Amino acid sequence: MADPLRPILDAYLAGGVPPNIALMRLCMEAASRDAVRAAIAEAGASGVSQGAADRLAALASLLEQHPSAFATIRAVMREAEHDRPAGSPDDAVAHWAAVFDRLAREQPEAGVALYALGSPDLLDAATGEIVVALRGWGLIEADRRVLEIGCGIGRFVRALAPEVSQVTGIDISAEMVAAARARCAGLANVRLEVGSGRDLAPCGEGAVDLVLAADVFPYLVQAGGDLAGRHVAEARRVLRPGGTLAILNYSYRGDLEADRREVRARAGETGFSIEEPRPAFRYWDGSVFLLRKGV
Ligand SMILES: C[S@@+](CC[C@H](N)C(=O)[O-])C[C@H]1O[C@@H](n2cnc3c(N)ncnc32)[C@H](O)[C@@H]1O
Repeated sequence: MADPLRPILDAYLAGGVPPNIALMRLCMEAASRDAVRAAIAEAGASGVSQGAADRLAALASLLEQHPSAFATIRAVMREAEHDRPAGSPDDAVAHWAAVFDRLAREQPEAGVALYALGSPDLLDAATGEIVVALRGWGLIEADRRVLEIGCGIGRFVRALAPEVSQVTGIDISAEMVAAARARCAGLANVRLEVGSGRDLAPCGEGAVDLVLAADVFPYLVQAGGDLAGRHVAEARRVLRPGGTLAILNYSYRGDLEADRREVRARAGETGFSIEEPRPAFRYWDGSVFLLRKGV
């Protein structure tokens, strides 16, 4: 049987895949933490260049720095079952609400971003670089009002609150919202709500400048029944003219071209123009779609 770890290491050595992402993928595929360690050692044993040896050493060191990463990733995978066949969209929303309730209690950091390997420090670094990118795209200013769909534990809400006038986070998981409220305690310009998962009802027409959707569209796409399309239309409703819907990762199906076609089609149907920046992040390798509402 082909070794499933080798292609992950080859892609990492080819460049462009951050070490924490490569380690996450290795942990998802390997039988044990020892198997991850052995695969990294074996890849370095076959006369590789100095650059490749250095990259492998960085990966091995990351594995040692995060001794519980393997167990954490496997625990989240057992809980999350991303490939679960969809029933009705309502079933899917109820399923994900229950899953994320459990993750909020048991693995809050890894539950919202597996690539942080369960480390609060890595999660902060990954959040910080995305906030820098949002600022670079002109989406964050002192007078901006932000809505985050699927805010999880509130890492973006807390990071954005000091930089904008108001941040609303909604999520279908009551436990995630509770975790976000704890994380954002004392921030006067933050509102956190449990949403239905079917629309953006807590938000009025033209009420915000930015709708942020980080790693939540994959659950809307998976739910089917055009839940994703309804959220794009809802984002358009709640955005002021000139506002932006920022989709960070559209699906987890591993077909970026299909994602591009679908997001472009949805943008066209809804009257958004679209930009697809390709930032080189240090800790994250997802795709970015910026849907701009005309003025
Ligand atoms: C992978 S987590 C990402 C959380 C957060 N955006 C972040 O990046 O830290 C996905 C979140 O989306 C929420 N979610 C899933 N389906 C949703 C829906 N239909 N409406 C709102 N939130 C949803 C989950 O409860 C979970 O908190």
